[in-house]
Amino acid sequence: MKISVIGTGYVGLVTGACFSSKSNSVICVDIDKEKIQVLKEGNISIYEPGLNKIILDNMHNDNLKFTTDIKFAVKNSDIIFIAVGTPSANDNSTDLSSIFSAVKDIGKYMEDYKIIVNKSTVPVGTFSKIKKIIKDEITLRNIKLDFDVVSNPEFLREGSGINDFINPDRVIIGSSSDKAKCVIKDLYSNIVSRNRIICMSNAAAEMTKYASNAMLAARISFVNDISNLCDILGVNIEDVKLGMGRDKRIGPLFLNCGIGYGGSCFPKDIKSLIEIGNKNNYQMILLKAVEEINKNQTNIFIKKILKYFNFGTFSKNLAGKTFAVWGAAFKNDTDDIRESPAIIIIKELLKSGVKIFCYDPKAMKKAYNVFGNKICYSKDKYSILKNADALLILTEWDEFKEADFNIINSNLKDKVIFDGRNMYSLKYMLGKPFDYISMGRQPIYNCR
Ligand code: UDX
Repeated sequence: MKISVIGTGYVGLVTGACFSSKSNSVICVDIDKEKIQVLKEGNISIYEPGLNKIILDNMHNDNLKFTTDIKFAVKNSDIIFIAVGTPSANDNSTDLSSIFSAVKDIGKYMEDYKIIVNKSTVPVGTFSKIKKIIKDEITLRNIKLDFDVVSNPEFLREGSGINDFINPDRVIIGSSSDKAKCVIKDLYSNIVSRNRIICMSNAAAEMTKYASNAMLAARISFVNDISNLCDILGVNIEDVKLGMGRDKRIGPLFLNCGIGYGGSCFPKDIKSLIEIGNKNNYQMILLKAVEEINKNQTNIFIKKILKYFNFGTFSKNLAGKTFAVWGAAFKNDTDDIRESPAIIIIKELLKSGVKIFCYDPKAMKKAYNVFGNKICYSKDKYSILKNADALLILTEWDEFKEADFNIINSNLKDKVIFDGRNMYSLKYMLGKPFDYISMGRQPIYNCR
C-alpha cells in the first residue's frame, strides 16, 4: 500500500519504518528541514533500539523515503498517518495546532479518495474537527472529494517501540466508515493477527488511548503511595508487590515503585484528562491524586538524602556535597529526558548547592542541553564516583543493575547509595560495604 506518515518523532518513525518493512511504500514527512536532512543521510536523531537498521534497510530497498514536501507525500499515498506532537498548552489543555496544520495541508493537496489515520493522542471529538478542516479546504477549492478519518491510537513505549509495534497487545481502529476500517484492518493484518484488532467508533478509540495511559499512570502512583506507607511501617514493598502481582486480576507488570513516572505521555495525558473533565464540569478526582502523588515522589527521594546526611549532625543542608548520578533519561533504553524525574531531582539538588557528576548511557547530550556546564558529565559510570559523597541511581538502566560492586567500592569516596529505582534486592545489598537507601524498603546501614 502507498502510505505517508506526517511527523518523524518516536511514533511517526517507528510507524513509517515498520510499515515499510512489510513491503509498503512509505513516505515520512516533517516540517523540520534539518531533521529530514539527517534522516536522508541515514542517521536518526533519537535513540530507539533496532530502529536505525530498519530505516537503513528500507531506504536501501526504496520502500522508505523522507521529505519536507507534504504536497508530494499527499499525492503519492492512499493512506496518510498523522503522528505529530500534541503537547500540553499553557492552560493544561492539549495543543492540537500541529495536527490541524497537517490536516489543512491534506485538504489542500489531496486529489482523490484518502484515508486519514490519526495516531496522535487527542481529546475525544478531535476526529470531527479534523473532518471539518479537511472538508472546508476541499470546499474552498470548489471540488468534491471523498475521504475518511480513522482514529488509531498508538500504544508503543519508547525503548521498545519496534517490538510494541510489530507485536502489540491490540490495535484499535476507530471509524464510522466500514470501507476505511477494512482497509486499515488489512494493512495491520500483515503485522498482527486479526483477533488482536478491535474496531469501534472514533470517539471510543480516542478515549481508549487516554484511559489506558491514565490507568497505567494510576497504577504507578498507587504502588508509590503504598510504598511510601511501607517506608513508614517498615514493610518491604518488593514483597508486597510479589504478593499482589500473583493475583491474576492484578498481574505483576507495571508495579515498580520509585521516583515517579515521566516521559512525553503520562504527565501530559493526565493533565489533559483532568482539563477535559473541568471543561465538562466533571472533577477527575482520582487523576488529580495520581498527579499529586507523582509530583511528590521526587521530594520523597530528596528527603531521604537530607535525612541521611543530617543523621547525628546539625547540618541542615546539602551545600558543598558532591553526588555521582547514574541516569538522566525518564526511563531505561531511551535518550528522552522529557519530564524525567531524574532531571527534576538534579535541578533541586543544584538549588541546594550540590555538585553533580552525571552519567547516562544515552541521554548525556540531552542532559547537556538542559544543564550545560552547571553539572559535570562522564562517559564512564565508575570514574565519577571518585570524589562523590554518594551515588544516586535515578534511571532503571540494565547496566546499573549489572554494575560491578567491587569497582563501585574502590571508587566511591563515601559509602552510601541512594537508589530511586530499587535496582537491587535488600538481600543482595546486605553486607555490602555501603549504606543502601531505596524506596518503600528499610534502609540498610552496613557502614554506620
Ligand atoms: C507510555 C505507555 O506505556 C505507552 O503505552 C504509550 O503509548 C506512551 O506512554 P512510555 O512513556 O514510553 O510509554 O514509557 P513507560 O514504559 O510506560 O514508562 C513511563 C514512566 O513510568 C517512566 O518514567 C517509567 O520509569 C515509569 N514507570 C513505569 C514506573 O515508575 N514504574 C513502572 O512500574 C513502570
